[in-house]
Amino acid sequence: MSPHDHETPAGGHAHGGHHGHDTTHIDWEEFATLLESEAALSLPLYEEVAHWVREQLPAGSVRRVLDIGSGPGAVSCLLAEVFPQAEVVAVDATPGLLELARARADRTGLGDRVGTRLAELPEGIAELGPADLVWASGSLHHVGDQRAVLTGLAGLLRPGGLLALLEGGLPARHLPRDIGIGRPGLESRLEAAAAAWFADMRAALPGAKPEVENWRALLAAAGLTPTLTRSFLLDVPAPVTDAVREGLVSGLSWQRGALEGRLDADDAAVLDRLLDPDDEEGLMHRPDCFMLAVRTVHTARRG
Ligand SMILES: C[S@@+](CC[C@H](N)C(=O)[O-])C[C@H]1O[C@@H](n2cnc3c(N)ncnc32)[C@H](O)[C@@H]1O
Repeated sequence: MSPHDHETPAGGHAHGGHHGHDTTHIDWEEFATLLESEAALSLPLYEEVAHWVREQLPAGSVRRVLDIGSGPGAVSCLLAEVFPQAEVVAVDATPGLLELARARADRTGLGDRVGTRLAELPEGIAELGPADLVWASGSLHHVGDQRAVLTGLAGLLRPGGLLALLEGGLPARHLPRDIGIGRPGLESRLEAAAAAWFADMRAALPGAKPEVENWRALLAAAGLTPTLTRSFLLDVPAPVTDAVREGLVSGLSWQRGALEGRLDADDAAVLDRLLDPDDEEGLMHRPDCFMLAVRTVHTARRG
């Protein structure tokens, strides 16, 4: 439930809806809090991915890591911990998010190895400099010409270097099918509405190019050798902590706004109840909410 998942914009995303609302344009500065809470909830998954990626690289070989579309830098800092000999550069087009990344790096004592670089993709890629690992999580699908971005990023890799692309997986789930209010199957309907939103979001991106989302084929077309593909599970069962509840509320309230006009009135009313902090059936109180998500990671090597 965020601009990060393709079912939500997190994977998240937002420009030019077809219902008279411009709900597909994403103001990334406004997303800072949501991105931070999502990253905090997903950190165990990212940690597992980072260790899996490390196993694919010769020990000590990683000197420079680029975190492409880093957002507020939680993963950039994690990568600095997992690759203790590396300089990590958080790359993003949103200055406010890079400030948060900078602050996080300083706060966690990683300031000397985590840097930030303001760059708009794909135009800014050429200036990013060489890397042993390029990590792109949930950022590629926010760029119109995904093929151009992958080709540019592939060109930054040193021989033997790896590109790790986190795209796709399964839409996150947070509630049982029947939650006792409204029609059963709310999340399936949200997912369908979010998929339509996602298509409109992509179509409205500058330089949008339709692309078959065969990531391994796209990595190969970028001149790399696809190596592994694996999906990682984030499983936070009920009952969840207040911090998880707050994360679910942030994600769902984002969806409530982005999907305005795409949901029927009954589902919209149920969402309002779920988001109401004083409603006993709301996310802040109900005992049955959880967090279940799958993220797929593709790796590819430069020969
Ligand atoms: C969904 S967030 C992903 C954040 C982080 N990588 C993660 O996995 O949690 C997408 C990020 O991509 C950045 N972004 C979107 N379009 C971009 C572009 N054209 N150039 C550079 N960064 C971009 C946004 O500012 C945002 O921080």
